[in-house]
Amino acid sequence: MSPTPNQRVLSGMRPTGRLHLGHYHGVLKNWIDLQNQYECFFFVADWHALTTAYDETSIIADSVWDMVIDWLAAGVNPGQATMFIQSRVPEHAELHLLLSMHTPLGWLERVPSYKDQQEKLKEKDLATYGFLGYPLLQSADILIYRAGKVPVGEDQVAHVELTREVARRFNHLYGREAGFEEKAKAAAKKMGKKSARLYFDLRKQFQEKGDTEALEKARALLTAQQNISLGDQERLSGYLEGGGKVILPEPEALLTPQSKMPGLDGQKMSKSYGNMIGLRENPESVTKKLRTMPTDPARVKLTDPGDPAKCPVWQLHEVYSNEEVKKWASEGCRTAAMGCLDCKQPLIDAVIKEQAPLHERAGEYESDPDLVRNIIDEGCEKARDVARDTMEEVRQSMGLIYK
Ligand code: TRP
Ligand code: SF4
Repeated sequence: MSPTPNQRVLSGMRPTGRLHLGHYHGVLKNWIDLQNQYECFFFVADWHALTTAYDETSIIADSVWDMVIDWLAAGVNPGQATMFIQSRVPEHAELHLLLSMHTPLGWLERVPSYKDQQEKLKEKDLATYGFLGYPLLQSADILIYRAGKVPVGEDQVAHVELTREVARRFNHLYGREAGFEEKAKAAAKKMGKKSARLYFDLRKQFQEKGDTEALEKARALLTAQQNISLGDQERLSGYLEGGGKVILPEPEALLTPQSKMPGLDGQKMSKSYGNMIGLRENPESVTKKLRTMPTDPARVKLTDPGDPAKCPVWQLHEVYSNEEVKKWASEGCRTAAMGCLDCKQPLIDAVIKEQAPLHERAGEYESDPDLVRNIIDEGCEKARDVARDTMEEVRQSMGLIYK
């Protein structure tokens, strides 16, 4: 298989603590599927972690290798996917800087996570330059590999959108071929003053703000022209959408469905809720956590019937159990025919069974840290080769080559 760049997948994860089963069900299983279909680049987003953890950097250092082992344990295959660490490819920082020159502040202030996270992490001062700019750093992460596909959750779709706008603007500013603009402008004149002015206005709205309605209107304007040649029409349509050379292709978001993995209290599994089962948690601890997990509060005594809809354990059945087990659990609950511990047993078995191959794979890497380091060394080198090539072209197109 020789993958075209547009078939390249890129995704990153922040190293801010051990991964849990929510990450496994929500992100990693998806990565494993993707690595079988596409050329994949997965990276440890340590600089991204810094944007919120700048005052406790030890968390980052402590999490990096554990996270890589978690990935490997989950089945990310270094023979198929390229795994690396962001800060080991410093070209990301260079592209981030160059992109920052033509990224309007408003685009960053408008990204929903900017305000949301500041609200959520009130105890931190996130009115920083780095935090405002982190979606642009993410754009650089994506564009430097010319990745066509970016698997993200709902909360990150806006970042891929921003990346598209930034790429479009870059290509518009630096991707034009000699003489192209003059020809396009001459063609516009032939439409007459009024139409030409409208065309340039709409083009600007589209290129600077990504206004697709303006794009549609401009296209309609072009098709309606009767006194310009087909060649001029094509020129104008190319110029409308950027024209010239595409140096940084626009990526597409691959929306990862929200994981239904509940935490031990029925809320979403998350470190901040303290309701998680670790991805590599040992079977004894898993058993204990599940056995003490809260159930429908109405079931005080064994003889009190319950309602699965009011029980966090039921949500785990939704993830792990087949119809037969679910029917057994739900009937047993409603009729008080069995106790909650009986109801939990198939789940304990299922989680332990799911984790067994993860423990097995992790064991190999835990006992041989050099193996993990080698995988990352190799990945960093491969990533860096691609990143260097892109930067070479980026500098060239911006005229930043002084030799
Ligand atoms: N911002 C992402 C997060 O916080 C991680 C990330 C950084 C990322 N760069 C990326 C994800 C590029 C996808 C593509 O989860
Ligand atoms: Fe929850 Fe099962 Fe107990 Fe019913 S029997 S309350 S579903 S744990």
